[in-house]
Amino acid sequence: GIKIVTIGGGSSYTPELVEGFITRYHELPIKELWLVDIEEGKEKLEIVGGLAKRMVEKANVPMKVFLTLDRREALKNADFVTTQLRVGLLDARIKDERIPLKYGMIGQETNGAGGLFKAFRTIPVMRDIVKDIQELCPNAWLVNFTNPAGLVTEAILNYSGYKKVIGVCNVPVNMKISIAKLLNVPVEAVDIKIAGLNHMSYGLDVFVNGESRLSEVIELLADTKIQMSMKNIVPLPWNPDFIRALGVIPSPYHRYYYKTKEILTAELSDYEKGRTRAEVVKELEEGLFEQYKNPNLNVKPPQLEKRGGAYYSNVACSLISSIYNDKKDIQILNVRNDGAISDLPEDAVVEVNCVVTKQGPIPLTVGRLPIAISGLIQQIKSFERVAIEAAITGSYEKALLALCIHPLITSEEVAKKILDELLEVHKPYLPQF
Ligand code: G6P
Ligand code: MN
Ligand code: MN
Repeated sequence: GIKIVTIGGGSSYTPELVEGFITRYHELPIKELWLVDIEEGKEKLEIVGGLAKRMVEKANVPMKVFLTLDRREALKNADFVTTQLRVGLLDARIKDERIPLKYGMIGQETNGAGGLFKAFRTIPVMRDIVKDIQELCPNAWLVNFTNPAGLVTEAILNYSGYKKVIGVCNVPVNMKISIAKLLNVPVEAVDIKIAGLNHMSYGLDVFVNGESRLSEVIELLADTKIQMSMKNIVPLPWNPDFIRALGVIPSPYHRYYYKTKEILTAELSDYEKGRTRAEVVKELEEGLFEQYKNPNLNVKPPQLEKRGGAYYSNVACSLISSIYNDKKDIQILNVRNDGAISDLPEDAVVEVNCVVTKQGPIPLTVGRLPIAISGLIQQIKSFERVAIEAAITGSYEKALLALCIHPLITSEEVAKKILDELLEVHKPYLPQF
């Protein structure tokens, strides 16, 4: 039987994951699912863990759910470890979003200054988790959803030396679902070729039954009435001339980069109303946990789909199943580049199509990126690499440099102010600084 350990098990997203494991039980016989959290998350763990147990019972699958605060006990002999933690909880995310906005810069949980500080808080914790994995279940695959997922995965690969780590995100699968809807074809018929970095990847081509439909998709996206976005991103329309000129499919996150000014205006208005995304999510979560408490609830409530992470369990559960079953199917994952994208270093983590085997994912060759997008992708990678160095060493200078490299930070003077304030408010979670 398979043993899975989910760190951050008290997350409101856990029912997604449990549902994914239940639906796949016939091909992925999980004997034990351990939901792990920390003291601060104990209440949430008990509530969502209770729902998880009821879901499993209702579905009548022989999977045992364990709830624990003892991570080391849980990790013993695990086959797969998933991480979905948020250091400092949503209150820290509120600060990541509000403080940059106070200085007139984009406030976003995984992009710009907010993403940098999420990385700073997360990397030390993930490195501790990896140490435990190396000792207690050294053959386990680590499936990381913890944001910024690509950057965190690269930190583990290159600084903890743990090779069996894969970063996952629901953006590629959401793009695929949206495109299938646009083309009015079943999602299984669509293959999308994705390349770039996490929350910074583009659809380079789209195939339906082996035939490219890219130009059709570009035309559909050029229709300003049709918007491809996600629950957590303002669905501002793309200018038709821009989208045609770009020639590839941007991800919903690219709005932060190509429509910085317009997104900033929208965010500032939310900021003034106390309705940043983190604040909205906090309210959504409270509602979700109220529902989870209901002893008669034994399925995933539809309200969970109001979160940006909808379908993320599909990604994680399909990945685990394909490794376990040596399926050799194609999935879009965050892995070591190994030459797949020739514009980026070998040891950089990239988001690309991979063949998933028992030995793990093997990235498919992309070659050179189109010139229109290679610059931005390289700039973000350079930000990520300096950010990781700062997160590991606690260097103030590297932290400042990372911010100044980032395209969403447009002044080194303002960067310093944002840096100082975020370092101060997040101090309890930044042992390295
Ligand atoms: C998308 C991203 C996730 C992110 C989520 C935020 O799904 O891929 O990485 O965590 O949005 O959604 P939220 O509902 O928390 O704003
Ligand atoms: Mn993501
Ligand atoms: Mn800059």
